[in-house]
Amino acid sequence: MRIDLDGLSLRAPHADDAQALAALANDRGVWRNMRDLFPHPYTLQHANQFIARQAQPSPNRIFLIDVAGAVAGACGVHPLSDVYARGAEVSYWLGAPFAGRGIATKAVAALTRFGFEQLGLARLQAGVFEWNQASARVLEKNGYVREAVLRKSVFKDGQLIDSFLYAKVNPAL
Ligand SMILES: CC(C)(COP(=O)(O)OP(=O)(O)OC[C@H]1O[C@@H](n2cnc3c(N)ncnc32)[C@H](O)[C@@H]1OP(=O)(O)O)[C@@H](O)C(=O)NCCC(=O)NCCS
Repeated sequence: MRIDLDGLSLRAPHADDAQALAALANDRGVWRNMRDLFPHPYTLQHANQFIARQAQPSPNRIFLIDVAGAVAGACGVHPLSDVYARGAEVSYWLGAPFAGRGIATKAVAALTRFGFEQLGLARLQAGVFEWNQASARVLEKNGYVREAVLRKSVFKDGQLIDSFLYAKVNPAL
């Protein structure tokens, strides 16, 4: 599966992306805004494991963000379970050299379209740490609504902080 949109592509990761992926992902500024599942330091071995995992069957749809042939980051749609199974979480991260150019906004636009039109999901959501205003803005620019402030819901980087629940519902359903 490959999605091309407006100068960037969301595509499957390949074994030869590992070096570039690790170089971008090994960044405290990225880690600080991700769940603890995202390792730090992020080694070449982590990148290889991440890429190998994508070949295994999973309900998650994970993509590399590719800008003009260069690895810029990664993103995905993660379906929820049980009664929430018509919804999914979106995730995304971008390497620092690629930040501030509207790339995450385009990646989230592509993911959202994919989730609604291809997967038929009713709802997409994301959790944003209180200090991550850039990510909140990315979601707002894509029509996601801040539905809740989850008070003291996150312990990250030694701090107990609030997070914001953002969601967008499928207008076609
Ligand atoms: C946060 C992140 C996704 C932003 O990606 P990006 O490609 O730089 O985002 P865009 O350029 O598409 O849009 C960023 C928006 O936030 C705004 N912004 C940036 N820093 C900001 C800040 N400190 N306060 C408020 N707004 C800010 C920008 O001005 C822009 O909005 P605008 O277009 O209205 O001017 C990226 O830096 C990243 O991946 N960070 C680390 C991992 C992460 O945070 N993942 C998301 C977890 S929820």
